[in-house]
Amino acid sequence: MSPLALAQVLCSLPKVDNENLLVGLDTCDDAAVYKLNDSQAVILTLDFFTPVTDDPFTFGQIAAANALSDVYAMGGSPLAALNIACFPDCLSPEILRQIIRGGAEKVQEAGAIIVGGHTIADKEPKYGLSVLGLVHPEKVIANSGAKPGDCLVLTKPLGSGIINTAFKGGLVSEEAYRRCVQVMSYLNKDAGQAMLKVGVSGCTDITGFGFLGHASEMAAASSVTLEIWSDKLPVMDESLELAKMGMVPGGAYRNRDYLEGKVKWSQDIPLEIQDILCDPQTSGGLLIALPENKADRLLEELAQTNKTPYALVGRVIEQKSYLVEVK
Ligand code: CO
Ligand code: CO
Ligand code: CO
Repeated sequence: MSPLALAQVLCSLPKVDNENLLVGLDTCDDAAVYKLNDSQAVILTLDFFTPVTDDPFTFGQIAAANALSDVYAMGGSPLAALNIACFPDCLSPEILRQIIRGGAEKVQEAGAIIVGGHTIADKEPKYGLSVLGLVHPEKVIANSGAKPGDCLVLTKPLGSGIINTAFKGGLVSEEAYRRCVQVMSYLNKDAGQAMLKVGVSGCTDITGFGFLGHASEMAAASSVTLEIWSDKLPVMDESLELAKMGMVPGGAYRNRDYLEGKVKWSQDIPLEIQDILCDPQTSGGLLIALPENKADRLLEELAQTNKTPYALVGRVIEQKSYLVEVK
């Protein structure tokens, strides 16, 4: 079963009827939002995964940046976080200590604090965070807010799944891998703040379901279709060449199968671009929908603060029989 299909199972619980629940399960958004009073709502989210790099400290940083990202995608700021870890009893606890230290450093960079956590013994290490964030109830940015006519901006380059796969086979250059690690461990904080300054319609972050998986969730939640311009996508160095060589993770194929019938491909989209669009991302960027007359301001904000490549990658159109069209 594809991870996307599994997530749909999680979202399939009966709709909760509670006037304080501003964002719940039904839209498959990045996090839940619960209103406390007229000026405060809390954001609740949880994310953890298996190591994406050999270095435990870096893995901790990436896993934490990924978990914090869901708070930024909702327009919020993180307040506190809990560690969640699985760890084999045959490995040195020093490794776990380094993972946790890497995570703590990112949480600190986000301006939040770690207040506890839970660990269990397991065959494979896994690490992540449950994060509590804060947002004004009227400033929540949901994945359901995209409107026809909006522009689409992506704030990190694609291809981390492909680069990580190639790294295991020793096929990526040190420099390209180093930059990929930089992108994965970079917080979506600057992009989130740029979004808040400018005011946007909707947002989601790009992670395990790949660009098209998350784009299709946004389209479905917003009852629109997204038009993606394949020649405008920011991509990581060497990722296209590696995809051509077949260095594509299994998850990309599962994402692609799941998207069958939901995505319309123009005839001439090269296979490696299709792979990039389905490639599961680790701690990817924000996909932001915003009115056309605000797009330049957002791009200017990103130019000043954001330290990863970003681009205007498409637009929102009226709902069609498919969720995303790749041109
Ligand atoms: Co997310
Ligand atoms: Co998430
Ligand atoms: Co959201």
